[in-house]
Amino acid sequence: EVAKDKNGVDQVLLRNSRGASARVSLHGGQVLSWKTEKGEELLFTSTKAVFKPPKAVRGGIPICFPQFGARGNLEQHGFARNRIWKIDDNPPPLTRGEIKDKSCIDLLLKPSEDDLKIWPHSFEFRLKICLTADGNLTLISRIRNINCKPFSFSIAFHTYFSISDISEVRVEGLEILDYLDNLRDKQRFTEQGDALTFESEIDRVYLSSSDLVAVLDHERKRTFVIRKEGLPDVVVWNPWEKKSKSIVDLGDEDYKQMLCVDGAAIEKPITLKPGEEWTGRLELSILPSS
Ligand code: BG6
Repeated sequence: EVAKDKNGVDQVLLRNSRGASARVSLHGGQVLSWKTEKGEELLFTSTKAVFKPPKAVRGGIPICFPQFGARGNLEQHGFARNRIWKIDDNPPPLTRGEIKDKSCIDLLLKPSEDDLKIWPHSFEFRLKICLTADGNLTLISRIRNINCKPFSFSIAFHTYFSISDISEVRVEGLEILDYLDNLRDKQRFTEQGDALTFESEIDRVYLSSSDLVAVLDHERKRTFVIRKEGLPDVVVWNPWEKKSKSIVDLGDEDYKQMLCVDGAAIEKPITLKPGEEWTGRLELSILPSS
């Protein structure tokens, strides 16, 4: 189901037979909504979100590509999230792991002439977004080098989870990992043994995590499960009170209801030779918890 938003940009609505849904905008290839069969929204959107290109909407799952943050000469988090993607009518089949019983959309981003001026690497970025029969959300990204020289990129699926209260959640699966702390000059530290809880601003890249990370929300009795492949790193971000006030499209109190936990490849950029393709997978699901 494709419909235009008020700026004339196409949005795709995915539904499964039980009534779960996901909404994807061609602006950025960004997932804007993911709902359970009961209609509960699982992704956060800012109360001050601006739904107007070229800037990415504050919420959902913007894609950071080909650069993460300010780690390069490109605009913050790269340009992919600010571009208009196309629907890919004839996507090549996946080499493995076809998903059964799903509702999917295939998107494609190719660099424009202007993009090639700032990042001179021809690529095809295919993004398959699927809602499964169980209501899981799967994002499969395939990036191909169609140039005659190698290039390297970083990528992150900047997932804004909707949570009851930042003080009530914890993240499991990052214990004892090394991380780069953006709040301390990107220096490297080692996480101590316990699950991560939150009482102040956090902006970290956890390195080489296992492919399973969980966000537990005690109050909502819900656990988000993040399964990933090809995405070794995990970004954890919450701006907290002070930083929130400097972000124009984020409400002052919004930070309490959001936590970004991204599957990513940042510390070791991915290099593709001419003709080579990289695949990354992110699968989000929820479990009831006590
Ligand atoms: C995080 C970065 O992942 O994204 C932060 O590490 C940044 O430094 C945040 O503030 C949000 O970025 P943006 O560009 O969407 O405001």
